[in-house]
Amino acid sequence: MTEQERIEAIVREVVAGMKGNGSCKRAGGENPKTSRVAVLTEKERFEIKEYPIPEIGDDDILVRVEGCGVCGTDAHEYKRDPFGLIPVVLGHEGTGEIVKMGKNVKKDSAGKPLAIGDKVVTCMIFKDNPDITMFDLNKQNVGGADVYGLLPDDDIHLNGWFGDYIVVRGGSTVFNVSNLDLDSRILIEPAAVLIHAVERAKTTGILRFNSRVAVQGCGPIGLLCIAILRTMGIENITAVDGNEQRLEFAKLMGADATVNFKNYADREKLAEAVKESFGGYYADFAFQCTGSPIAHANIYKFIRNGGGLCELGFFINGGDATINPHFDICAKEITTVGSWVYTLRDYATTFDFLKRAKAIGLPLEKLITHKFKLSEINEALQTNLRQDGLKIAIIP
Ligand SMILES: NC(=O)c1ccc[n+]([C@@H]2O[C@H](COP(=O)([O-])OP(=O)(O)OC[C@H]3O[C@@H](n4cnc5c(N)ncnc54)[C@H](O)[C@@H]3O)[C@@H](O)[C@H]2O)c1
Ligand SMILES: [Zn+2]
Repeated sequence: MTEQERIEAIVREVVAGMKGNGSCKRAGGENPKTSRVAVLTEKERFEIKEYPIPEIGDDDILVRVEGCGVCGTDAHEYKRDPFGLIPVVLGHEGTGEIVKMGKNVKKDSAGKPLAIGDKVVTCMIFKDNPDITMFDLNKQNVGGADVYGLLPDDDIHLNGWFGDYIVVRGGSTVFNVSNLDLDSRILIEPAAVLIHAVERAKTTGILRFNSRVAVQGCGPIGLLCIAILRTMGIENITAVDGNEQRLEFAKLMGADATVNFKNYADREKLAEAVKESFGGYYADFAFQCTGSPIAHANIYKFIRNGGGLCELGFFINGGDATINPHFDICAKEITTVGSWVYTLRDYATTFDFLKRAKAIGLPLEKLITHKFKLSEINEALQTNLRQDGLKIAIIP
C-alpha cells in the first residue's frame, strides 16, 4: 500500500464512522445497536425488552450501565404502582460509563471535564438552581418524575438504569465520578439522602464533634447515617433497631453501642437503655431512620433537654404518631428538623464522604448484600420486599 492509498483508507474509515452520526464522539469499540431494558409492564412483573439505541443528539450522552441499586421507591412502584408510571423502566441509583456523547457535551454539572470512558451518575434533571430540593420541585409543581428511573416511558425507552444502556439527555445533571469504585458509585444516591439529613441537622447548631448521637433504624438509611457521622469524627453513636444482624452491621459502620428495642417493655425502659449506652447521658442529637410512627414517638425520650432531632424516616406517608408536646418538645426545648431527599450540592459532598469513608476503613461495600443480573430483576425486587439483606444491586 502506498502512502497515498493508506491515507485514502484512513479517510474512508473515518467517513464511514461518521455516517448517520457526524456529530458524535464515540468509544473505540463498536457499540451495539440495541439495548435491553427491564420494563415494569404490570404490578410485580418486569419484562426484559430490547430496543434500538437511538441517535445521540449533540447534547446527549449514551451511558453503558454498570450497576444500579434497588430502592424502597422501586419496591413501592413494583408492588402498587402508586406513581402511575407503568409501563416504566425503573432504576435511579445507577452508574455507568460514557460510550458516546454529543459534540456539545464538554463538562459535567460541577464543571469537571467529561470524556468517553468516564464513569458518571445522574441526579435530578432540573438543574437551574443547585440548592433546589425535592420539596421545592413539588412546590413548583415540577413533580417527582424528573429523575431517570422515574420517567414515563417514551419513544427513547432507555430512561432508567435497569437496562444495559441509558440515554442521558441534554439539560440533565450528570457528575463525573471516575475516581470512585463501582460499589461506592451505586451507594451515591442513598448516601446523598443522609448527607442532606446531616446538613439539616447541622443547622440546629447542636450536632458537634463530640456529640452523643442516637440513630434509630438500621436499614440502609440508618447505616449510611452512622457511616457519615463516623466519617465526620463523631464517635459516640448508639444504634437502635430490633434486628440483631442489622445492629451488628451498625457496629461495622461505626456505631459505638447498640440497643435492641425488642428487649424493653416500654419506651421509658428503652430510653433508659439508650441513656446507659452513653454512660448515663441522654443523646445530644438523634436521627429517626425508620418509617414507624411508634419509633417517631419513642425517639423524643432518648434526647436530652436542649437536644436536637432530625426526622427523615417518612419518605412517604406512614400514618400519624402520638407524642406529648409538653414533655417531648416544649419542656425539653428540642430543636427538630425534617429532611427529604437532597440537593445537587449534597451530591458533591457525597462523593467526598465516600472517599473519606474508604480512607478510614469503613467497609461500605458490605452494605451491598445482593447482586442480581438484569434478567433476575423480578427476584431482586422480591428479595427487597422480603427485606432480606440490605442494599440490593442490579449488575447488567
Ligand atoms: N427522607 C428521605 O428523603 C428518605 C429517603 C429514602 C428513604 N427514607 C425513609 O427512610 C426509612 C428507612 O429506610 P431503609 O431503606 O433503611 O428502610 P428499612 O425498612 O430497611 O429499615 C428500617 C429499620 O427500622 C427498624 N425499625 C422498625 N421499627 C423500629 C422501631 N420501633 N425502633 C427501632 N427500629 C425500628 C427495622 O428493623 C429496620 O431495620 C424508610 O421509611 C424510608 O421511607 C427517607
Ligand atoms: Zn432511591
